[in-house]
Order: sequence, then C-alpha cells, then structure tokens
Amino acid sequence: MQTKKLADLYTTHQSLQDAAAKLRHQPIQGMFKDDSNRAARFTLNAAGLSFDYSKNLIDAATLKLLLETAEQADLKGAIRRMMRGEAINNTEDRPVLHTALRHVEESKTEQHQVVQETLKKMAGLVEAVHGGKWLGHGGETITDVVNIGIGGSDLGPRMVVKALTPFHSGHVKVHFVANVDGAEIHDLCQALNPARTLFLVASKSFSTLETLENSLTARRWMLENGCPENGLAKHFIAMSSKVDKAMEFGIAEENIYPLWDWVGGRYSLWSAIGIPIALAVGMDNFNALRSGAAAMDKHFTEAPLERNIPAIMGLLMYWYSNYLGTSTQAILPYAYHLQLLPAYLQQLEMESNGKSVTRDGIGVDYQTGSIVWGTEGTNGQHSFHQLLHQGTSLIPVDFIATLAAHHPYGHQHKFLFANCVAQSQALMTGRDRETSEAEMRAQGKSDSDIVALAPHKVHPGNRPSNMLLLDKLSPETLGAVIAAYEHKVYTLGVLWQINSFDQWGVELGKILGTHVANAIDTTDIPGDWDSSTQTLVRRFIDNNPELS
Ligand code: F6P
Repeated sequence: MQTKKLADLYTTHQSLQDAAAKLRHQPIQGMFKDDSNRAARFTLNAAGLSFDYSKNLIDAATLKLLLETAEQADLKGAIRRMMRGEAINNTEDRPVLHTALRHVEESKTEQHQVVQETLKKMAGLVEAVHGGKWLGHGGETITDVVNIGIGGSDLGPRMVVKALTPFHSGHVKVHFVANVDGAEIHDLCQALNPARTLFLVASKSFSTLETLENSLTARRWMLENGCPENGLAKHFIAMSSKVDKAMEFGIAEENIYPLWDWVGGRYSLWSAIGIPIALAVGMDNFNALRSGAAAMDKHFTEAPLERNIPAIMGLLMYWYSNYLGTSTQAILPYAYHLQLLPAYLQQLEMESNGKSVTRDGIGVDYQTGSIVWGTEGTNGQHSFHQLLHQGTSLIPVDFIATLAAHHPYGHQHKFLFANCVAQSQALMTGRDRETSEAEMRAQGKSDSDIVALAPHKVHPGNRPSNMLLLDKLSPETLGAVIAAYEHKVYTLGVLWQINSFDQWGVELGKILGTHVANAIDTTDIPGDWDSSTQTLVRRFIDNNPELS
C-alpha cells in the first residue's frame, strides 16, 4: 500500500532528524546560559496573550528548519484558503468558517450577514430572559437554563461558562446535560423548578442519540410536572442546522436558532451554540469573547510565521511528535476556572487531527494527532506530575497562568502562580544525582542510605514546556486562547496534510451502538457476534426484562 512519508513531503526532514539527534540530550538550561536573551527571543505577544516557549528543546537553527517546513507546506496559503471560505473540508465539500462567527467588522459576505442576524436574535433572547419578559407556561420568570447537547454542542459552552464564572450576570443559573446516562439529567432535574426552567436543545445535526434521548426525557419531565402540551414552547429552544427536524421534535419555529454546515461542531461555541454563554454572562461579554478570538484570527492571518503564536504552537508539537517521539501533551491551566479547558481541547485536537490518511486518502507513515490530557493546577501536582518529572515518557506541557486573580485572596494567587512557574522550572532543570547526594549528606543520612536513595531522587530534567500568560482571565483573553488552540490544530493539520475538519472515526461506534440497542429491544442476539459481546448483551437483557 502506498503511504506518505515526511521525507517525501519536506526537504527539511533529514535535517530535522539530525537536529533531533543533537538536541534530544542538549540541556535547555545550557541554552539559557549561552543566550542571555533567550526568554525574550522565544516569547511572542498578541491579542493580550504572552507565549513563552523558551523552555523547549529548540534552538534557532531548528526553529528555522521548522519554519521552512511550514513554508513548504504552504501554511500561509492554507490560512488564506480557510479565511476566504474555500471548501478546505474536502471530504464533506464544505468551507470552514468559524472565524466568520467572530468577525467584528462590517462585511457583506452571506455568512457574515446570517451571523449578524442570529446575533441580533440571540441578543433579543438574552434581554427577554434577563429582563424577566420570557415567561414559563404558568407566567413565572426563568431562573434555570439547561443546555442539552454533547461533544461540540456541550464542551465549548460548558468550558466557557465555567471559565467566565466571575462574569456571570446572576440572572439565571446555567446547567449542562450531555451523557445518555439518565443519571445526569435525573440528578439535575431534582434541583429544578419546571415552571422556571428553559431547555436549550443544542444539536447541529439534530440526530444525536444522547441529545434526543435527554430532550425527550426533559419533555416528559415537564409534562409530568404540570406543564401543559401547549405550554412546552415556552420551555424549549433549539440550536440546529436542521430546522425541519427541530420542528418535527415539537420546537416552535421562532425558538429555533440556525447553525450552518460551514461551522464544525467543535468550532461552534461562537455561534448560537453559545446561547448558554450569553445567558450566563450577558451579550456584551459574549461579544467580548468573540472579539478576543477575532484579534487572534487577525494575528494568525497577518503575523509572519516566526512571530505567529498559533503557528509556533503547532510547529513545536510537530517537532515533538514527529522527531522526538512524543505521543501525548499535557494542558495544565493554573486557573481553577479553566478546569474544563483540557476536556475541551481533547475534542478540538483529537477529533480534528486523529487521522491516519492524508486529505487525498493516502495512508501516512508518520504520527499525527496526539493524546491531550490534563487538569487544573495545582491539583495535578499531587497526582500525575510524578510521571511528568520522573516517568519514562517525554511529555510536552502547556502551562497557562494569569498575573491577577478575580478573588480577593492574593496570597493564594501568589502560591498558585509560584507553583506554576516552579513546575515549568523543575521540569527543565531536574535534579542530578550529585545534588541529591549532597542534600542527603547535609541532612545527616548514612552513606548506605544515600547510595540506596540517590537513584530515586534523580529528576532527569530537560522536559519541555510552554507558558501561556494572561494578565487576567477575561472574555477577551479567553477568546484569544481558544482561537490560538483552534489555529494551532489547523497548523498541525496542514503540516500533516490531513483534513482537520471531518470526524468519520466516530461513526462506527454509533452504528454498532444502535445494533446492540436493537438486539436488547428484540432479545435477538446475532450468533455471529463474538462470545464476549453476546454474553454482555445477554446479561443485560436478563437483568432488565422490562426493557426488551
Ligand atoms: O459524534 C461526534 C459529533 O458529531 C461531534 O463532532 C459533534 O460535536 C457532536 O457529535 C454533537 O453533534 P450534534 O451537534 O450534531 O448533536
């Protein structure tokens, strides 16, 4: 079978391999000693963000090779093609225009006009709910909003609503339900008053099992708890590109907010999928989030690649994935309110770049999308950081920190920031055997203890990290952070020559899920299924006879 190799794609491949052999064991600390200007040289500023990538296994010569690779991949042309609305999602023959959703200047394109109309309609909704003019079936005002959606129709708004907690207007509480596990909606409904609850059914396709099942449950719950059939319209809104399907479900046409096929689910929080955000923080803050992203779009489009934050983020990950053998990356926001960012970026990066054929359908013999994981600091320090410091894998880390907090406990913010910086420093410097031995000697340990313990105390160091620094977490800076990661993902897709905007890999599981559910309904388990699957399904049927 024909496969694509990086050596066929880029003339820089061999030189990058040579650079990797050299840099792999070159102490980053030494590079700081050799160049007193290293931090400044490897720090970029744009859209309110500062991106310090100096603590990486990178030197000027390697960076030049990576930038040359980006030129050979025609990254600049690819950015223009995306922004111009060319059908770069080639397997679905669609443009990719999430950037049009946050475009703030006057524009006459068809996309910008429909976006403006939708934003106006959203503003009307927010005003009505916040102003107490949107009333439930019994004439009561809305106190709780429940977003029912999954994947891109959940993770983005959920993450942003949490991240912008200090900006909540306090008019309504916003909740999220995603999982088909009935436990989630059941637990939530216990705490809600149906007469004062507004459900948002968020589904681009309006055919996603989880969302439809949860919406049906919500509908039943409303009817069983005093809402008449003709009062349901006051409690259900939909955001979807399938207006007909949403209407069939019973949602009033005027309560349906459009989406378009030129916005991918995981890139849609800027659209009507952002209604829960606007309801939580108000329309002005939602617009500020959009304008922060627009500022990053402008930077990505206009800045030369060597000064371009998303391009450099992508090139660094390309370097680690394809030349230094890494397969995962950790996202460690030292900001409690950013605790859902790693989960959001998991979908963004892994659904976008978890591909093994090129845009032309040819297999790749190189690594593409990596595993994204992480949690908010300092929690991770007391669990998985052990592996970051002393494990056998090389894991590049993105630290995200803020200079100022929204709360009054400044001394705690000092410790948070100090730990973040110290972690990035410790990963790089490590601690050698001699230092550990000297420390134990000073503590009065015996020679035999020192010999026995020394290997356990060695931290190899030379572990790379980026530091994304924000003055403060605000709608604008958050918008810029999200857009930076979106463009990083695109940069990687361009370098790997894959389509970052389709997601065919999620289909098989959905199809087989339906087959298993059918087997439970009919109690007819296909004899050609493997014995493990047959036994599991049989046990479920025997345990739940009422469900068949
Ligand atoms: O199954 C994956 C997926 O299609 C995601 O790409 C998408 O974000 C999610 O499901 C939800 O899809 P929808 O908005 O159509 O319900």
